[in-house]
Amino acid sequence: MLSNNIISIIEKNINLITNLHDLNLLKNQYLGKNGYISKQFKKLKNHNLEDKIKKSIILHKYKKIITKIFIEYKKKLENIDINQKLTKQSIDITLPGRINRLGSIHPINNIINKIKYFFIKLGFQHICGPEIENNYYNFDALNIESYHSIRTQKDTFWINNDILLRTQTSNIQIRIMNMIPPPIRILTFGKVYRHDYDNTHTPMFHQMEGLYINNNVNFTDLKNILLNFVQYFFNKKIKVRFRPSYFPFTEPSLEVDIMNNKNKWIEILGAGLVHPNVLKNVNIDANTYTGYAFGIGIERLTMLYYNLQDIRVLFENDIRFLQQFNYITYKYDKV
Ligand code: PHE
Repeated sequence: MLSNNIISIIEKNINLITNLHDLNLLKNQYLGKNGYISKQFKKLKNHNLEDKIKKSIILHKYKKIITKIFIEYKKKLENIDINQKLTKQSIDITLPGRINRLGSIHPINNIINKIKYFFIKLGFQHICGPEIENNYYNFDALNIESYHSIRTQKDTFWINNDILLRTQTSNIQIRIMNMIPPPIRILTFGKVYRHDYDNTHTPMFHQMEGLYINNNVNFTDLKNILLNFVQYFFNKKIKVRFRPSYFPFTEPSLEVDIMNNKNKWIEILGAGLVHPNVLKNVNIDANTYTGYAFGIGIERLTMLYYNLQDIRVLFENDIRFLQQFNYITYKYDKV
């Protein structure tokens, strides 16, 4: 039967073992289903009850001791393993550290911030409005007649007969005038959608819209603010041209061109005095109030500002293009 001898035999054998696989084999010899201890338990059935009890107590005691020996030896082997791995994995402290790459403000957002900075200083309030619109806000209330060509334009993304993706931020003019009485001085930025795609057009692009309604707002005020804006945005020396134009929602209307570095006139914004019909549509008395509105194409300005040749680089998310703007700080973001 069992004796203390068995423990010293196990201890002797176990000390020869160098890996977990061999350890398991040895463990099975003693503690496995058909191992030494199990066999001893089976033998008990030949004894009388008293003996059975006595011997099984002893057997349990041995089983416990042996189990402990194996657990401890397993820990020892695992520790050796970890230490070996650690000594193999030496750390080269001369390697340069990993650089934490920072994102940068997208050029479009940077231009938006720059524009915002100018107009907010002049008292314009920044508001946002929906991109999914209906006929009323995008066309009807803006004095765009039902037969007007831009309504049937294949350019518009229609959702159904009435609902569309807004084609211009001018929808915000109506939304704000329907909401609050004059004086109104707001500024909005946002995405607009037109079915168009080439190196100067994308189906989604950004516009900025300004609206000022008060007593005695006149055309000179409009020209003045636009001229100041363009000179702030580019520089004092830039050549600016005001050109008569037509928009159903402004009368008179104008467009502003600037001369680019190839001596070519480039249109950058549309503007005008708010049409009396538009004021009537939103129940503002055109005899008491007048106002001006202007709409700026953000991508156009961004391309001119950074001298980009293809509008699509702005939306392709090519990291090589975007990381060139890393140097730009949050200069205009405080407003
Ligand atoms: N909404 C016009 C456009 O998309 C621009 C504009 C805005 C013109 C406000 C006049 C006044 O071209």
